[in-house]
Order: sequence, then structure tokens, then C-alpha cells
Amino acid sequence: MKSKILITGVTSGIGRSLTIESLKRGYHVWGIARRGSILREIKKNTKKNKFDFTSTDLSQSDAWEKIIRQIKRKKFVPNIVVFNAAISEDDLKDGIDLNSTRDIFETNYFSVLDGIERLLPYVKKDTQFIGISSISALKGNAREGIGYSGSKSSLNLAFETLQQKYSKNYHFTIVAFGPVATGMNPYKKNQFLSISEKDAVSLINKAVDERKQRYEKPIFLFLFVKIVKLLPQNISNLMFSVIENLRKKLLEE
Ligand SMILES: NC(=O)c1ccc[n+]([C@@H]2O[C@H](COP(=O)([O-])OP(=O)(O)OC[C@H]3O[C@@H](n4cnc5c(N)ncnc54)[C@H](OP(=O)(O)O)[C@@H]3O)[C@@H](O)[C@H]2O)c1
Repeated sequence: MKSKILITGVTSGIGRSLTIESLKRGYHVWGIARRGSILREIKKNTKKNKFDFTSTDLSQSDAWEKIIRQIKRKKFVPNIVVFNAAISEDDLKDGIDLNSTRDIFETNYFSVLDGIERLLPYVKKDTQFIGISSISALKGNAREGIGYSGSKSSLNLAFETLQQKYSKNYHFTIVAFGPVATGMNPYKKNQFLSISEKDAVSLINKAVDERKQRYEKPIFLFLFVKIVKLLPQNISNLMFSVIENLRKKLLEE
């Protein structure tokens, strides 16, 4: 059976590369994003009607209703769903900007839960749900703000919980990245510690092929953060601030 894959956030970065790679693999792709012009352009460049899309803002409460209506009309039943769309903005510039924190959670977290809830009665047994997460889920970071890391750690825990609840019928997989040289990453120019978009897509495809519960890349960076977090607080704070200063310098270069 050829896979049908639904991917959110297909108009740039990892989602766009994953879409192109999935089309190469022969999958039928249903893409979601706000920018209709880019979605139409992807469709135009795709042969054999293998790409369909819904242009919608996932932070809005009716987004998934619209998506489900459109995929049902076309009898598109995904057996892989990749929740990739996310936003990252500093909601801690001048105190806590609650509106911004809420916006981040709507897109990065609540829309994922809404999508799962609405897809579960529609998809077949054995469907895999993949949540794209980040190393930011492992530690707070004043540079990044509150919402991004908070939403990604919530996503990790939600997928862990859903896997326990539905392990007999479905797969819930988290694929987490350190910095990726793409849209969301401010260190695009200086790619020290970054992985490429191609490596990120390969890891998602590995997750699709193996269907384990968790994937992380680069492994050494995740290990480093996990180990440093076990050290006494003052030592771990010092180590993280050294790394942060180094990254700041790289960004300025
Ligand atoms: N880049 C990194 O360094 C990095 C590191 C770790 C994890 N990640 C994770 O990897 C995933 C992709 O990151 P990326 O760097 O490829 O991001 P990106 O280039 O900024 O792309 C984000 C995608 O999400 C879509 N999107 C954002 N808000 C949306 C909304 N409200 N409704 C619908 N679509 C929306 C955007 O499309 P429209 O603007 O057209 O809506 C775009 O296609 C994210 O989950 C991110 O957290 C990235």
C-alpha cells in the first residue's frame, strides 16, 4: 500500500523538504499551511495529482473542521500525520506577553491535540502520528521566551501520554531536533551545532520506517543537555550560559 501522508507547515523549511521527499517516495501528500500561493505553486510543480492541500491558519478553532471536511470530500485517509507547523517568537521581550504566549500554544500545541482528536475516528488502525519537537523542550531559555519551549515540552508529554493510551491501535512518535539550518533557526549563517534540513527529513523518514516512540538529532547535543541538567544547579547554569554566549557571538558574526 502506498502511503498517504498529511503534513502541516509545508510552505517552508523542514515541512517543505519533507513534502518534496515524500512525493519522491511515491506518497500522496496532503499539505497544510496559511500561504495559499506557495501551496498552489507546490501543486503546480507536482505530477500525477499527488499533492493536495488546505490553506488554513491552524491557530484558529475551525481549522481542523475545514481540513477534515476537505480530506473526506477527496476520500483522503492518511496513514501518517506529521504535525510540523510551529511558530517561535520571543514572548518575554518586555515582560510576559501573554497574547503571544497563547498564540504560540494555539499553533504548536492545541491545534495538534485538536487535529489528533478529529482524525482518530476517521483514520485506520496502525496510523502513525508524528510530532515535531525541539531540544528547547528540555530546558528554559530566556533568549527564546516562554511559549516555544513550553509548547514543545507539552507536546512531548502529550505524545507520551497518547502512546500509553492508544498503543494497541496507533503510533505516537516524537522527532526532536537541535538547531536545523532553516527558517526558524536564527543561526542560519553560522551553522555550528546545526543539522541540515536534509538530515532532519531523513530522521523523520527513519521514524516513519521504524515507528519507534522517540527520535533525537544531533544525539550528542541532547545527551549533553540531559547530562548537564543532572549537575548541581549553579554548575549547570554556568555551563548553559557559556554555551549561550558562544551562540550569541556566532549570531553576531
Ligand atoms: N529550524 C530549527 O532550528 C528547528 C529546531 C528544532 C525543531 N524545529 C521544529 O521543526 C518544525 C519546522 O520548523 P522550520 O524551521 O522548518 O519552520 P519554518 O520554516 O518557520 O516553517 C514553519 C511552517 O509552519 C507553517 N505555519 C506556521 N504557523 C502556522 C499556522 N498558524 N497555521 C498553518 N501553518 C502554519 C508555515 O507556513 P505558513 O506561514 O504558510 O502558514 C511554515 O510552512 C517546527 O515544529 C519547529 O519547532 C525546528
